[in-house]
Amino acid sequence: MKPLIVCFSQTGKTKKLCGCMAKSLDADFVELKEIARRGLVGAYTLGVYDAIRRKSGDILPVDSDIAEYETLIVASPVWAGNITPAVNDFIREYDLRGKTVYGFITHAGGAGEAVNLMRQELEQAGAVCPHILDLQATRELIYDVKAERKAFRLTDDGKLELREQDGDTKA
Ligand SMILES: Cc1cc2nc3c(=O)[nH]c(=O)nc-3n(C[C@H](O)[C@H](O)[C@H](O)COP(=O)(O)O)c2cc1C
Repeated sequence: MKPLIVCFSQTGKTKKLCGCMAKSLDADFVELKEIARRGLVGAYTLGVYDAIRRKSGDILPVDSDIAEYETLIVASPVWAGNITPAVNDFIREYDLRGKTVYGFITHAGGAGEAVNLMRQELEQAGAVCPHILDLQATRELIYDVKAERKAFRLTDDGKLELREQDGDTKA
């Protein structure tokens, strides 16, 4: 059965990478949207405040039947060293018990506590989290992934990886 990629993205980078991930993993893809959509100023002010306090940002109902999927990949940008309120809301509101849920985190060089926090959230939700991949989403990286010089894959030993197409593991 196909995995489902569940992605929040404020400025489009995580979404672009997840779009490519969906292609390389042959996965379904759904984007999370907050009910009260934030602009960039709102993200850097109240958004950061909410992220630091590990709040949920109310999301619109997810346009996908989560119950149908055994494996998910939950993707979030880093906000002030935390995962985003929209992703907190998804993990807390949807029934992920017993599901295998990989994490995918993008940042600009400072992931802070985001990897640990996502693992903590997923485990509290009753999911099994084999691996969380965090990537610095540089322009070059996005370019390489879009040009299929690098591709995501799920390994047999439970890792979400980004690999050079010649086989070198990069993350
Ligand atoms: C409100 C806000 C807070 C951010 N905080 C951090 C941070 O603490 N560390 C970091 O490395 N990048 C931080 N970033 C940069 C994003 O995590 C990074 O650019 C990410 O890849 C953007 O994903 P997106 O385009 O899908 O929203 C922040 C960006 C925003 C908008």
